[in-house]
This record gives sequence, structure tokens and C-alpha cells, in this order.
Amino acid sequence: MAALNRRAFIAAGVTVGVGLAVATPFVLGGAGQPSTGAQLRSRARLPRPFSMTLRRPPILKPTATDGGVDRYDMTAHLATATILPGLRTPILGFGGVFPGPTIESRTGRPVVIRHRNALPIPLVVHLHGGHTPHDSDGYPTDYIYPEDMTYLDQHPSMDHDAQAMPAGGTTRGSRVYTYPQRQRAAMLWYHDHRMDFTGPSVWHGLAGLHIVRDDEEDALGLPGGTSELPLVLTDRAFDADGSFLYPSVDRTLVGTPGVTGDFVAGVLGDVMLVNGVPWPVTDVSRGSYRLRILNACNARRLRLRLDPPPSDGIVQIGTEGGLLGEPLTHEAFELAPAQRLDAVVDFSGYRPGTEVTLVDDFGDGAMGSIMRFRIGDARGVRFTPPSTLSAFERLHPSAATVTRRFRFQRGSVDHRNGWIIDGAPFSPTTIAARPRLGAVEVWELFADFHHPVHIHLDPFQVVGRGIQGPGPYDAGWKDTIDLRPGEQARIAVRFTDHVGRFVFHCHNLEHEDMAMMANFETVP
Ligand code: C2O
Ligand code: CU
Ligand code: CU
Repeated sequence: MAALNRRAFIAAGVTVGVGLAVATPFVLGGAGQPSTGAQLRSRARLPRPFSMTLRRPPILKPTATDGGVDRYDMTAHLATATILPGLRTPILGFGGVFPGPTIESRTGRPVVIRHRNALPIPLVVHLHGGHTPHDSDGYPTDYIYPEDMTYLDQHPSMDHDAQAMPAGGTTRGSRVYTYPQRQRAAMLWYHDHRMDFTGPSVWHGLAGLHIVRDDEEDALGLPGGTSELPLVLTDRAFDADGSFLYPSVDRTLVGTPGVTGDFVAGVLGDVMLVNGVPWPVTDVSRGSYRLRILNACNARRLRLRLDPPPSDGIVQIGTEGGLLGEPLTHEAFELAPAQRLDAVVDFSGYRPGTEVTLVDDFGDGAMGSIMRFRIGDARGVRFTPPSTLSAFERLHPSAATVTRRFRFQRGSVDHRNGWIIDGAPFSPTTIAARPRLGAVEVWELFADFHHPVHIHLDPFQVVGRGIQGPGPYDAGWKDTIDLRPGEQARIAVRFTDHVGRFVFHCHNLEHEDMAMMANFETVP
């Protein structure tokens, strides 16, 4: 599809301006509030929950697989999606779909993706959870400019930003990202990571899954095929014509960053989408399923539970960085933005015809539920996770050579309300830490409100929260930690292989856009 110009982008109603009603006042959620953010109210007619069928994101086929490398081409362009019945939603879509197509890859087998930008705005692609060299990591100013550069005439400051940047740099039309895939099996995701505009870009569709598999995981014989369900959870809000609502200050998404008023705390929607379908339903057999859940919401935290509960509970087998050492049974699971839950659920204990709802205990009203499983007659294969899932390496904080402290707090950014780390808003030229490759470090993170803190390049392990040990949802290799208001947590992190400049940031995308990000530079 040909690139539309900027005017068409606005006319297509992809973004929306000021003046939206704020439905919920839990703006700066204190300790009692589940999320930090303000909720939009949809104007469109919404479907009845559990009336639409769950879909799976399409799997992208490689264009070549010779030489031990999987090669892909993906084009981000304007498109429309059918999300609400009878309405069309303009999206920014990898491959023109929302969520973007899923990439399936294998440990040790490099993946090379040519991302083409046919959008009317710049694009940056980050593989979240990827152990990726810095020039392919989607540094926030490593823009892929669109072929059509006319918007730059209106926004010379962008050009300026780009020129001021060291190394990596920008491209025009497309960029080749190389992922060595020297990492364990895990469910990663890719999304736009453009400086100041990640929130609206992801909200409008620029996110998809990337699933890495390996021999260790294959050997477990986990539920696969139709019994493996990737579930991308996104809350959204819709205007009367079906377009997404988003409170951008600047609807062109290239000028002034940020969102209006109270939304600076985070943008919450009033419609829950699973793989782009509002409150869907899916038929399941009476067997075990592997549910691979990504919280891809901009700011909404979730507390997932099945109602009625399965007899064996929700058996967690993995997290952002892949398999746990041993399975953990939960009644409910809290998931902050960008976090993933890999779980096995045995539906064989339910009677045929039972409707099992995936609920969000943190959501109000319609947002209290996410999707539904309808138990069928057929018996499926049952799977009981073994007591040992993987050879899990524990990082020992006592081996740490360096302890660093970072405070994630509200602050003023360009004389506006924003979010800062250690008193400073994001600047591409300031390096907050220079960790040595291979060394274990302890990072102490403090949060004033909810801040899901994400670190690029390598996963970490949670050592403790306050004077306590890790929380119930902290097990395994994490790439995002859910910090709650007033909380302090310690993590053990170790960077390997790739030298260069990377970012860490809050994954509440409005906080990220409003400057809650910093650089670290790995050194040999
Ligand atoms: Cu999912 Cu730096 O991001
Ligand atoms: Cu990331
Ligand atoms: Cu934050």
C-alpha cells in the first residue's frame, strides 16, 4: 500500500485531539488504586461481552530461510481493522494488522527483519525482551523516516534531534534489524519505540508478538498447536465512528509530545481487547492449555483470575525471560504493562458447557472481565507440568560488584508535568550507568506511583521488595518489574555480549513518552 500523506493520516481519524471526557478520577493512583492513569470513555456502541470470537494473530512467513538465517519483510502502514461490529477502526499496523503478525523463531537461529515504514510518521522498532545488539535495538532516536519526508518541513526540530545523536543513526524508508537470538525460549514482543511518541503509536496498533522456541522447552512437551493460546491484552477506547480515542496534545504525532491534562498519569481504555477482539469468547476442549498472556496496555495493571477457578489453579511455568525453574500455582496473577505470564490451565475438571471467565479483579464494570472460555464436550490432552521445568541459573546479589539506585518520580519536564528518573528527564546524551559486561549488579529502584520498570538487553531477577523477599509474581527472569506506589525493590542484573548504549524506562507508555527513561552503556 502506498504511503498516505500526513493530511490523510489526520483525516483518517487515527488520532484525536483535546476535549475528551475523563470517566474515572483515579488519576494518580495512590496505594489503594490498581493503576496510575485516567480512563477514557468510548462514544461508540460497544458489543456485548463474550459475543465475538477470539482470533489469533497471523504468523508471518519468512521470505528466506537459507544460510541458517530466517529473513522477514514487514511493512508498517495505515490500514483499517474491524474491531467493533459494523465500524472500521483506522490503525497504524505492522503488516497492516492489529496486533501485528507473530514471528516464530528458534534460539541460535538469527532473524533478520527488514522493517519498511510506509506510515506518514517516523517509526522505531524495538524487540522487547530481545538480547539484541544496540544498533538493532530500536534506540528511541534511531528513526526510520517515511519515504515521504514532507512532514519534516513542519517539524525541523525532529531533524535536529536525529542529527545530534551519536552512532546508530537514522534511515529512510526501511531499516534492517538483526536479532542473533542468543537467548532462551520466551515470548517477546515488538513495538514502536519512537522518542516521545511510543504511547500513541502502540495505542494505534504498532505492536506484535515474537515467540522464541528452543530444545529445552520442546522437551517438556507443553500443550502446543491449538492448545497454545497467545493472548495480547490491550485496553482501548473508541470514538463514535469506531476510531481509537487517544488524548494526544498534537494529533500529527510529530510535533509536541504528550497527552492532555490528567492523562499524563497514563491512558486507560474502557474496552478490553484480546488479540484485537473486544471481550472475546473461545471454545476449548476438556484438556490442558498453555495460555501465553501479554499485558500490552499502555498503563493498565491487571489482576488475572479464572472464574470459576480451575481445580489445579493457574500453573505458572514462565515469565518475560522464559521458563521458571519449577512451576508455581496461583489463584490470581498480577500483570503490569509489558509483563508476560506463561501458564498451563487444565480445563478437564469443568463440566461441558461451563463458561469460564478470565476476570481482571482490578477492573471496574465491564473492565472487570477480559474474555471467556466455553468448555466443550471433547476431551483434550492433559498435561501436568513436571516439578523441574528448566535448568535455571540464579543470579547471586552477594556476587554484585556495583549497587546503583534509581528513583522513578513525578517531575517537571519542559515546564510541564512529566516523569523523571533521579531528577532528570530523558536525554539521549546523558548516560546514567556504565555496567561492565558479565558483572552482576544490584539495582535499587524506588517508585512514587505505579511504575513498571523495564530494562533493555538482558533480563534480571528480583531480589526483594522493601525488607521482604521477592513478591508472588516476581519469580524467574524478568524484563519488567511492577513497582507500586512508595515501593523500593532490589534486582540483580547482568548484561552480556553487546557493548553500547541502551535504555531502561517506565513501561507506562505515557510516563515513558513524558521522559521517564534513561541510558546505560555497557562496557567490555
Ligand atoms: Cu517494550 Cu523499551 O520497551
Ligand atoms: Cu525492551
Ligand atoms: Cu511510570
